[in-house]
Formats: sequence, C-alpha cells, structure tokens
Amino acid sequence: MSIESDLIWMDGEFVPFKDAKIHVLTHTLHYGLGAFEGIRAYKRSDGRTAVFRLQEHIRRLFDSCHIATMKIPFTQEEICNACVQTIQKNNFEDCYIRPVAFLGDGEMGLAALSNDVRLSVICWKWGAYLGDEGLKNGIRAKISSFNRHHVNTSMVKGKINGQYVNSILAKREVMAQGYQEAIMLDTEGYVSEASGENIFIIRDQEMFTTPFGSSILGGITRDTILSLAKSFDYKISEQRFTRDMLYTADEMFVVGTAAEITPIREVDNRTIGTGKPGPMTQKLQAAYFDLVKGSAEDPNEWLTYIN
Ligand SMILES: Cc1ncc(COP(=O)(O)O)c(C=O)c1O
Repeated sequence: MSIESDLIWMDGEFVPFKDAKIHVLTHTLHYGLGAFEGIRAYKRSDGRTAVFRLQEHIRRLFDSCHIATMKIPFTQEEICNACVQTIQKNNFEDCYIRPVAFLGDGEMGLAALSNDVRLSVICWKWGAYLGDEGLKNGIRAKISSFNRHHVNTSMVKGKINGQYVNSILAKREVMAQGYQEAIMLDTEGYVSEASGENIFIIRDQEMFTTPFGSSILGGITRDTILSLAKSFDYKISEQRFTRDMLYTADEMFVVGTAAEITPIREVDNRTIGTGKPGPMTQKLQAAYFDLVKGSAEDPNEWLTYIN
C-alpha cells in the first residue's frame, strides 16, 4: 500500500508530498526526542468519513511532548484542525493519520534548548496492520527476549520516538523467527504489552489487561475496549499477569489504532484456547468495527466527521 498523498501539513502550512523534507541535522533524527500519534479515519456505513477519538489522540500528543519537555507552538484545537484538513485536502475516505512533533536543526548538543519544536501531519492509506487474515483468524505471537522499558528508564506514557527502538528490536526478533507480533514482558517478568498494541486475555469469561499504571502506553483502543466490555457487563480485571496465564487463556487479543482488534491464536508455539478467535473476542471486535466504521451510535462523541 502506498504511503503517498498530495499534501503534507508542516509547521502550519501545506506542502506537496515531494517537498516535505527536513535537514539532516534535525535533532530528533540523531537522538530521538520527539513524539508522534497514530490515528485512523474510516468511511462509515452512512458514507461519511469520521476520525476516531481525534481529541484524545491529540491530547496524548501534547502529554507526550510535555513529558519530553517539548513545547508545541500550536494549540490542541489547531492540531485537530490540521488533521481534519489534511484528510480533506488529500480526499481520503479511510486513512491513517500521523502527527509527529520533533526538534529541528540548530544546536547539536543534547539539550538543544534553542531548537524549534516542529510539527507535521501526514496521512496515508493503511490497511490491516497485522493483515486481513490475522484480523479474521488470529496471528502467531512470541514473547520477545527484549523487556519493555522500566518505568523510570523511559517515560512509557509518552509516545516518544526514540523509545520505539525497543519495540522495533522486539518485532524484528520475532519476525525473523516466523511470528507476526512480539509480546514484551516488563522488567519484573510480568506481561506488559505487544510491540505496538495493548494485550487482553480471557479465562472463564473474565477479561484481564495490564493496568494503566504499569509499563504500558495508555492505549486509546484499550480504553475503547474496556468501555465496550463494561457495556456488555463483562467481568474485567486490570491487573498484572504472568506469561503462563497467556498460555492457558481461553482467548487472547491485542488492540491498537493500527492493529485494531487482532486475535492471537498462538503464543510461543502454544495454541490459545481453540486456536480460533473466541466468542468474546469476536463480539468485541464486531462492536469496535461497528463503532468506527459501521452504524453504531456515538454517545461518547468519539467521532469527528470530516464531511
Ligand atoms: C507500544 C504501544 N502500545 C499500545 C499502543 C496502542 O495505542 P492506541 O490504542 O492508542 O493506538 C500503541 C500504539 O500506538 C503502541 O505503540
């Protein structure tokens, strides 16, 4: 799938795709201090396109920058508008939206306090991150030998560019062994999250997910799934759990804006449940898709229509 678009928003202006360039001395390229978001817009069954939970994503972008001591020279509302306009100007119906804040060039020392904080918004077409087949039938995952960051080594509540080296190493490690996604343990050995998704397991109709106050990104999809699960009166435990609880789960799935709700059918060569997406996973997945691209009501005002 092509990542091309007509126009990219850069520091308040639209520039043609081929001109959206930065200098090789861009500070973030060297040291990784920056923050980004991943958001999706879907064409819903009424034919209109809506961005899902735009305000929450932009709030998290500002939180990430606050954690990273970067002051964004725009308001949250301005960045939400930039996202909407970038989709509109590129005439996208379904797309992925990537705001990225970074430190520009200037000083090359680590602190670089005088370098500008710059911001771009890019959109592209992106299908199922873990594949259509994975969405439908589940994927094979493996626990990575790389631990998730300790909470006082990296600032895990920030979606901070440089921190993704950890995820990339984990993902590449398990892909080289033929698996589709990496599951990471925290530094104490408990299950944390996947390389780019939060994790849920189900045993005897009870759902477990890692608590917000642990080494996970506070996923917006995780929050959406918790809200849907509550509406179904599912029993939910936000608590730490062990890798063998994955092996013995009846159902398991990972959630994220890119991966949506992807069932896991195998971990470390152990079949999860029946090896097929279970009934609670399927019900939550269907409800999620009905919300983002179907015809479900929007009582929480999570949809921002762009047309
Ligand atoms: C490490 C990590 N965990 C979880 C998530 C899921 O977050 P969200 O549902 O907000 O996309 C992501 C994706 O952004 C991620 O990169």
